[in-house]
Amino acid sequence: MTRRIPVASADLSGAEERYVLDAVRSSWISSTGAYVERFERSFAELCGTRSALGVVNGTLALHLALLTMDLRPGDEVLVPSLTYVATANTVRYCGAEPVFVDVDPDTWCIDPAKVERAVTRRTKGMIPVHLYGHPADMDPLNHVAATHGLWVVEDAAESHLARYRGRRTGSLARIGVFSFYGNKLLTSGEGGAVTLDDPALVHRARMLKGQGMDPDRRYFFPIVGYNYRMTNVAAALLCAQMERADAIVARRRAIFARYRERLAGIPGIGFQPVAPWAEPAPWLFCVTVEEKAFGRSRDGLMAVLAEAGVETRPFFIPVHRLPPYRRESAARGEELPVTDRLAASGLNLPTYNALSDDDVDLVAEAVRGARR
Ligand SMILES: Cc1ncc(COP(=O)(O)O)c(C=O)c1O
Repeated sequence: MTRRIPVASADLSGAEERYVLDAVRSSWISSTGAYVERFERSFAELCGTRSALGVVNGTLALHLALLTMDLRPGDEVLVPSLTYVATANTVRYCGAEPVFVDVDPDTWCIDPAKVERAVTRRTKGMIPVHLYGHPADMDPLNHVAATHGLWVVEDAAESHLARYRGRRTGSLARIGVFSFYGNKLLTSGEGGAVTLDDPALVHRARMLKGQGMDPDRRYFFPIVGYNYRMTNVAAALLCAQMERADAIVARRRAIFARYRERLAGIPGIGFQPVAPWAEPAPWLFCVTVEEKAFGRSRDGLMAVLAEAGVETRPFFIPVHRLPPYRRESAARGEELPVTDRLAASGLNLPTYNALSDDDVDLVAEAVRGARR
């Protein structure tokens, strides 16, 4: 039987086991503890923000960010459709409506030129997503937001340690949102964080994630809050991950460079663009398949790779095509040709620290050999 190469795999080879054991032995396993404090401090420092708050996962980090911005029923939020469904679902959690905007072919992120046209009287904010680790073009997006009095929340779930014009993602808007799911660059299995600067927003977000309790009066709840707190055990994993953040990024960058080299020149195979101002996070390596030139469709290539024991994943199905959203999107007359084209042609190749150079070569050869 051929060896199976997964699309992602967590690297827990540093101090992870020791820190988790330490948390367990200390019996600080809920949401109070030294690791939570250390994680929040270090992650804020890493992102270049004044504060970071640990939460249960990236989806709830998004929800917390939208609650903090006081998103209400009937409001609209501009989002890309080429994203993980949580970006839109959390808008719906608030009773608000996501309005989908096409992506820019040069970044695969929400297109600043198209955002302004989608603004209505009900629009309250926008959520640019740094898709597959590449930052959205934040300056023009922030400009449109300022012009129309909108807030911006960055969905940085996939872009740990990425930079936009020298600044880290997560520090480029009112609130940044991260996921630490098992396939992410930094992981705690499940986990998330919001990053922010404004002390008033930090105060509100802290209350909302802690059941709404008044920080100065125990068991007094002036607002309806939530329990979105990260555990000390998850934070212990993240503290260990962050110690190795540079090494993790370096290994993944090397994998990206090798894929690019080994896959270069295959007719019909395209790569994720990198804007001149971007330093993307090397999350999951992306390729696009142009069926005519390659001789197989994206799904055809995935099937051949699966036969060879190589696990891949297709790009996200556009959210405006999914049952909970397609009727509303069609009623607004949304047409998102770049999103549809990318979603139909893109896939992610295996990307994780323990992937060896030989594995990369094997995957690349399997892609090359699949051409007809
Ligand atoms: C763009 C994006 N937003 C939000 C999330 C949600 O994060 P989580 O899976 O931790 O809930 C993810 C995914 O994992 C994501 O890729």
